[in-house]
Amino acid sequence: MIIGIPKEIMHDEARVAATPDTVKKYVADGHKVLVEKGAGVGATHSDDAYAAAGAVMCDTAQEVYDGAELILKVKEPLFNEQTGKHEVDMMHKGQYLITFIHPAAPVNHKMVKHMAEAGIISMAIEGVPRISRAQSMDALTSMSTCAGYKGTLMAASDLTKFIPMMPTAAGMIKPCNMLVAGVGVAGLQALATGKRLGAKTYAIDIRPAAAEQATSLGAQLVESGVAPELAIGQGGYALALPEDVLAAERELIAKVLPNMDIVFLSALVPGQLAPILITEDMVKLMKPGSVIVDIAIDQGGNCSITTPGVRDVKHGVILEGIKNIPGMLAESSTFMYAANMYNLVKYLTKDGTLNLDESDDIVRGMMTTKDGKVVHAGALAAMGE
Ligand code: NAI
Repeated sequence: MIIGIPKEIMHDEARVAATPDTVKKYVADGHKVLVEKGAGVGATHSDDAYAAAGAVMCDTAQEVYDGAELILKVKEPLFNEQTGKHEVDMMHKGQYLITFIHPAAPVNHKMVKHMAEAGIISMAIEGVPRISRAQSMDALTSMSTCAGYKGTLMAASDLTKFIPMMPTAAGMIKPCNMLVAGVGVAGLQALATGKRLGAKTYAIDIRPAAAEQATSLGAQLVESGVAPELAIGQGGYALALPEDVLAAERELIAKVLPNMDIVFLSALVPGQLAPILITEDMVKLMKPGSVIVDIAIDQGGNCSITTPGVRDVKHGVILEGIKNIPGMLAESSTFMYAANMYNLVKYLTKDGTLNLDESDDIVRGMMTTKDGKVVHAGALAAMGE
């Protein structure tokens, strides 16, 4: 199989879908790997290192798209300002794509439909289910680990005060309070990082198991008031809540918001839009200078006024809507992502080519477009189809 690794084009995105190490493994497995020149520089991997690993280096992204049967990327296809072409338009009918797609997010609907029309067989890597046999391919867990850590450091750097308690000669400085809403992989890492920095940590989640893990990391629980039968669906994942239940949860969050310095938002219902946990009126309850890090922004965000992709200040509160936080930790995140991708490609390959068995949960969870159609259930629901 010919595998293509284009350079990522999202502003400030330094990750890449393969490292020289994984290229070496693809080549050893009998594949040919095309890498766009400069693709790995942001993640500290030089063109020479890829070439030494056996990659064929290409001068342009178009060469990679033209020559490859399978494109491996990190971010969803975007408009390439350098070439004046959308990445989808650089691809061809029957070509496979594996990358983060976030097809349920409204901002991506047009692009996903465009991929379907162009005959691209696209698979969303975030659809790999979190089951034991898929752990080594679980890029979402890897990236969430990075986002929980780095997102907390971003909040620390935005704050105009110390996080830990500081007994100083000038007087006692109180520790910061940090609330983590949605204590999955990212949220747990955020709690652990916040704790290490000296914050007093609080957590809210609708799954009792997540709440328990948060308390074992020393966080104080904020009760969500949501009955477990409404909260937990198939496979133990969270469910989307009815609007009245979500409104009641927001009221409980509103009570603690005035005391928080950092609010880390990482609540997610797989394959769906993120639940709104903080409205504009709730932001107004927060202290000036406090920080919201809304890492659920790829799924629309947990705060209704986060601006996708940017850092903003609204009502005196700093709102981090940065989308590619793992890209700010490019070496470690690329190491993890490229390894997950290699394990996934190896799993999906039989006799040297992709063999997509749709009775397999892993394949079914990822399929986004095929046979000219959008087939991703969460995307179709969000599109109202
Ligand atoms: P996860 O699925 O492990 O955890 C999500 C948690 O949210 C679950 O524990 C779930 O029970 C909880 N939840 C769902 N609905 C809730 C509600 N109404 N109230 C409270 N909690 C609720 O997800 P993971 O991997 O921790 O990711 C969290 C978010 O972070 C996702 O939206 C993911 O896309 C995003 N992310 C963002 C990155 C960025 O750079 N901005 C990078 C990596 C992840």
